[in-house]
Amino acid sequence: MSVATRFAARRTLLLRGGAALIAAPWLLSSGRAADLPRFALGIASGQPRADGVVLWTRLTGPALPDSVPVQWEIARDEGFREIAARGEELAEAAWAHSVHAEPAGLAPNRWYWYRFRALGQQSPVGRTRTAPAADSASALNFAIASCQRFDVGHYAAWRHMAAEELDLVMFLGDYIYEYPSGKNSVRPLEGTGIVRTLEQYRARYATHKSDPALQAAHARVPWLLVWDDHEVGNDYANLQGQELEPDFRAQRAAAYQAYWEHLPFPKAARPRGPDMRITGRLDWGTLARIHLLDDRQYRDTQVCPKPNRGGSNTVTLKSCPELLDPKRTLLGLEQERWLADGWDTARPWNLVAQQTLMARFSWTDAANGAGTYWTDGWDGYAPARQRLFDSIVQRKVGGVVVLGGDVHSNYIADLKRDFDDPASPTIATEYCGTSITSLSFPQSRIDAVLGFNPHLRYGRSDQRGYMRFALDAKQLQAQVRVVDNALDPASGIATAARFTTEASRPGAVAT
Ligand SMILES: [Fe+2]
Repeated sequence: MSVATRFAARRTLLLRGGAALIAAPWLLSSGRAADLPRFALGIASGQPRADGVVLWTRLTGPALPDSVPVQWEIARDEGFREIAARGEELAEAAWAHSVHAEPAGLAPNRWYWYRFRALGQQSPVGRTRTAPAADSASALNFAIASCQRFDVGHYAAWRHMAAEELDLVMFLGDYIYEYPSGKNSVRPLEGTGIVRTLEQYRARYATHKSDPALQAAHARVPWLLVWDDHEVGNDYANLQGQELEPDFRAQRAAAYQAYWEHLPFPKAARPRGPDMRITGRLDWGTLARIHLLDDRQYRDTQVCPKPNRGGSNTVTLKSCPELLDPKRTLLGLEQERWLADGWDTARPWNLVAQQTLMARFSWTDAANGAGTYWTDGWDGYAPARQRLFDSIVQRKVGGVVVLGGDVHSNYIADLKRDFDDPASPTIATEYCGTSITSLSFPQSRIDAVLGFNPHLRYGRSDQRGYMRFALDAKQLQAQVRVVDNALDPASGIATAARFTTEASRPGAVAT
């Protein structure tokens, strides 16, 4: 049976079976089907290709059957007069009634609209798009965002993001936080205590995804996503949690499962136990290759932790000479090789979407080896960072732009072949975006140390928002978009700074 015929058959069944459905006990106990919020977490799309995209939703509400057929359709127009593809997926309780539909055979480089239907209800309509064909020239408008801790702010940034004219959103980690509400809480979280079980992770995603502004940003454009630590637990590394939890493997499996269940990843990415591959690549026509990295799952544990703990520390080379051990890796050797072998020397741009600040950041004057190193970020894996930089130089890769998050601050940096040598050439450019809501240091602390890190062209810890970019074959134009007040859901937004990077000349220039 063709997909289209199957959809029509299912539709007929639903219409004819209406009386039987109304008699079902889960409806008798919960009211009429139309009153139940079956799409309360919204819809989303992701992983756009030239011929397809992933469509996501998760059914919600009381007394869902173990297995629920969900119809989806994707159209060339907002009114759904020209259907491009349709089909059916089973939403299963074992996977939180999530739906990951994968329409294929779409046309490259165009917009589509999609929606779902299940249990007598229709979802909101989402807009998405395909990537340009690999051999066609095209521009790319995109934004990066990260760190959307729910209880410490409101999502005005997402409301503004949904109004931008973008092709893609790249979310670079900390989609949820595992913490209970703290003293800075401005809106309530479900539950109490630290999130560790599958049910708790699911509930935490549901809380974050209940926000209408976040739902609007998902419904507007496709997303690419990588995770950071808080999707599992603060500062975790590979199979080690910060508290050296004895059952961390089971916790990571639960966390990865909930991550897949709530985001637009394809079925092929569904985790197996504590493993899920998010590393990937997307070519945007002849313009750019986008590399999506995972610096959590495969890393060596952080060096020189605090006593009887895992996780991060801030150290010096003198107190922690292990920092220079060349055997340690942040990406894992396999992913390191994958990246080094996958640089694109034909397209003008290589965009590296990853979790954290890549540029050197010292809290003290780094002269004579006296600088500080935060062991959870790239500074804690400096020889691995050097190998990555060496691969850029050796392969003569132009237009490398590193995109990051994690540090809840806007940093724009010239990435130097050797950060300890001010005369060293700039080999790539970094745009590390601030948090949507998550809190950071006072700006006075950053102002006091920017001079120790002269490759940083911009550093602001007192800004919440996102960065937006316009990319063409010659130039990247960046805007630092900052909300007036992240505690106010109605907050305005402004552009706090503008930078450009030329494809032929690495480095960021304020404009
Ligand atoms: Fe964060």
